Amino acid sequence: MRQLWLCLSLLIPTMALAEPSKQRQAELQNMLKHDCGSCHGLTLKGGLGPPLLAKDLINKPDDYLVEVIQNGRKGTAMPPWKPFISEQETRWLVQTLLK
Ligand code: HEC
Repeated sequence: MRQLWLCLSLLIPTMALAEPSKQRQAELQNMLKHDCGSCHGLTLKGGLGPPLLAKDLINKPDDYLVEVIQNGRKGTAMPPWKPFISEQETRWLVQTLLK
């Protein structure tokens, strides 16, 4: 029993930090370009939605960006992406945008 807890306590933080698989990363990049790009511009310089370039997001907290992407913004065209991407994937996406 003790071993099980030890095992779980080692596993859970690793899972939370784990990156999406390479294949999933490619899917997310594709989504960024085609889905997010349809409103934020193919090169993310802005369109219907505001620009999502690193220089535009650098001063905004990660948690705030993850929240907007997961839940969308009511009363605007920004839809919630929770049904399609997990919080972990959203965090990876935000890190990608900030690079
Ligand atoms: C249907 C159009 C549409 C799509 C598709 C869309 N967005 Fe948005 N997004 C918006 C609009 C409009 C806003 C501005 C909302 C407001 O006025 O507060 C926004 C706001 C945001 C913000 C907040 C920016 C800031 O500076 O506060 C982020 C981050 C964001 N979108 C990321 C994404 C990502 C990532 C995707 C793809 C997974 C995506 N959006 C897809 C329309 C869209």
